[in-house]
Amino acid sequence: MTSETNAAAGESIAPDIFKAVMQSVAASVTVVTAKGDPGPVGITVSAFTAVSADPPIVLVCIDKSGASLAELLDAPGFTVNFLPQGSESTALLFATRGADKFGTVEWDEPEVEIAGPVLHEAFQVFECETIERTEMGDHWVVYGKVVEAVVRAGTPLVYLNRKFVELPE
Ligand SMILES: Cc1cc2nc3c(=O)[nH]c(=O)nc-3n(C[C@H](O)[C@H](O)[C@H](O)COP(=O)(O)O)c2cc1C
Repeated sequence: MTSETNAAAGESIAPDIFKAVMQSVAASVTVVTAKGDPGPVGITVSAFTAVSADPPIVLVCIDKSGASLAELLDAPGFTVNFLPQGSESTALLFATRGADKFGTVEWDEPEVEIAGPVLHEAFQVFECETIERTEMGDHWVVYGKVVEAVVRAGTPLVYLNRKFVELPE
């Protein structure tokens, strides 16, 4: 077992130790989309968390180095597309900077005018109004109030130990 101790106030563990721990935290894979200018933007996101059920509030963490960051932050809303098992190629597409993301997959306009595109492949969807943006370390945390949802049975695509894993149906 390895461990890292930093008792002194103000110090923290190294980023690679942080990432080594986080890689064993299983996460559902989503594609977060928004209406950008000149066109829609979307990125693969596993840092999605439910914050509150009443009112329904979620958050997503967006890396500051992403090419789509400014448009995701500027948009008045966003959509969380929950990917099902078998959607690895879509997850990789939306994790590829500069790819023709919306020319490759099928999608619809959201029900909520200010939200982002809804991917046909998503088995569940949250359409959100952005209510807060917080700069935190090397990420921005974007909070959304869920205005519309698509709820369907399905098995989520899960990312664990730096790879996609199959869950039993
Ligand atoms: C499984 C998986 C999970 C990811 N989770 C996040 C995440 O939570 N937040 C984030 O900013 N990027 C995440 N990424 C990386 C972005 O999807 C990637 O940097 C993407 O290229 C950003 O698109 P952009 O360059 O157009 O902004 C993830 C990638 C993968 C493959």
